[in-house]
Amino acid sequence: MYIQIKDLCFTYKKTEKIAVDHFSIDLNKGEILSILGESGSGKSTILRLLAGLEVPSSGSIKVDDLFLFSKSDFVLPEKRGIGMVFQDYALFPHMTVAKNITFGLKKWGRKQVQQRLEEVLDLVNLSDYQKRYPHELSGGQQQRVALARALAPNPVLLLFDEPFSNLDANLQYKIREELRVILKKTGTTSIFVTHDENDARTLADKMVILNEGKMVKSGRPCDMLSPLNEKVHA
Ligand SMILES: Nc1ncnc2c1ncn2[C@@H]1O[C@H](COP(=O)(O)OP(=O)(O)O)[C@@H](O)[C@H]1O
Ligand SMILES: [Mg+2]
Repeated sequence: MYIQIKDLCFTYKKTEKIAVDHFSIDLNKGEILSILGESGSGKSTILRLLAGLEVPSSGSIKVDDLFLFSKSDFVLPEKRGIGMVFQDYALFPHMTVAKNITFGLKKWGRKQVQQRLEEVLDLVNLSDYQKRYPHELSGGQQQRVALARALAPNPVLLLFDEPFSNLDANLQYKIREELRVILKKTGTTSIFVTHDENDARTLADKMVILNEGKMVKSGRPCDMLSPLNEKVHA
């Protein structure tokens, strides 16, 4: 298995309730996992633990035979090679599309940067937009810039935190189809969290239903007939 997450637990300081309770999942390289759960179920916290922004109280995270976290390991967030795409895109407003996308490629040579920029712009279908600023783009285009920026450094794992919440329904539908195609084309192992059952189903190879920090169910979307019965609401 390329990614092995075992028994991650976490409780926020000054709170009593466990936010993530024994979260475990294995993923093959290139697989897409979606985590479906209502607001407050612990989805963002799981992503923060994986990215290294919070420290689990127990459990382990292993990527490609390297422990990012265990009893005796903690790899710093910036050394993990994990990318993140957020709901609000978090683009730098004063930087062009090209600058936004190449921001994380500081250690690359100039030629490599230019080549990678062209590759990812082509992937997200924005080749003509590299000189624009974020405010000169539609919501869907900004979303694609955020995806291109996250893909540019070839992350070992890409995390998505409700990335479609700010898009209208039509666009959401189109973009999630596009996103799956791009992730499969690039073979990017991804974890995607959402409160939207359709998003979770359409995108994923594997799906987990989360309730109050606990895994209620997991499996292939086609084998999970009615997660809504598990009390998950938008
Ligand atoms: N910084 C924090 N301090 C204390 N509690 C938090 C913090 N962030 C989130 N929580 C709590 O942890 C639980 C899980 O939150 P979160 O992971 O953000 O859920 P989701 O992303 O599924 O909406 C919630 O009960 C939330 O109130
Ligand atoms: Mg959240």
